Amino acid sequence: MDIFEGIKTRRSIRKFSSEEVSAEAIANILEAGRWAPSGKNNQPWKFMVLAKEKKDALAEFTKYSFLVKGANKLILIFLDKDISYHYQKDLLAIGAAIENMLLCIHSLGLGACWMGEIRNQGSDIIKALGLGENLEFEAALALGKPSLISGQGRRKDLKDLIIDG
Ligand SMILES: Cc1cc2nc3c(=O)[nH]c(=O)nc-3n(C[C@H](O)[C@H](O)[C@H](O)COP(=O)(O)O)c2cc1C
Repeated sequence: MDIFEGIKTRRSIRKFSSEEVSAEAIANILEAGRWAPSGKNNQPWKFMVLAKEKKDALAEFTKYSFLVKGANKLILIFLDKDISYHYQKDLLAIGAAIENMLLCIHSLGLGACWMGEIRNQGSDIIKALGLGENLEFEAALALGKPSLISGQGRRKDLKDLIIDG
């Protein structure tokens, strides 16, 4: 898939079939995240992949529980505070890693939705998963084979985004 076409045709997917996402696909998706840029190349991210009961147990932490339950896998993305050098810049890098993964997911014929609301319950999630205090939960990707692809997407006109220089 041409990179520009991939960027423009990727959509947030919120309905999935029951089809299994293969281990090979997961490995490719995480590899795409791993190759994101980061400040000082510190690579401040950590990833966790959940399926089945472990995945479904996180449904109670979000009002988007249907996404958690409907997805075949959930990819959790964390900031590793032990290797953070600048909080905001590290979060930007994590955003880049997430977008890399979303584009890879799309190119594989799979679909995902970036879950942001669930981050509000981040410290409860860290506790429920028994993870260390060095990790800060940033986002989840609900992942699966799309059963419904919503619309063409809408974006502001480029002219409304440009500040005259
Ligand atoms: C930081 C961030 C948080 C988001 N959180 C949610 C969320 O909690 N639930 C949801 O359904 N979609 C969420 N989304 C997806 C957006 O709604 C979606 O990207 C936007 O409407 C544009 O649609 P598109 O991705 O199909 O182009 C989030 C996206 C981002 C980047």
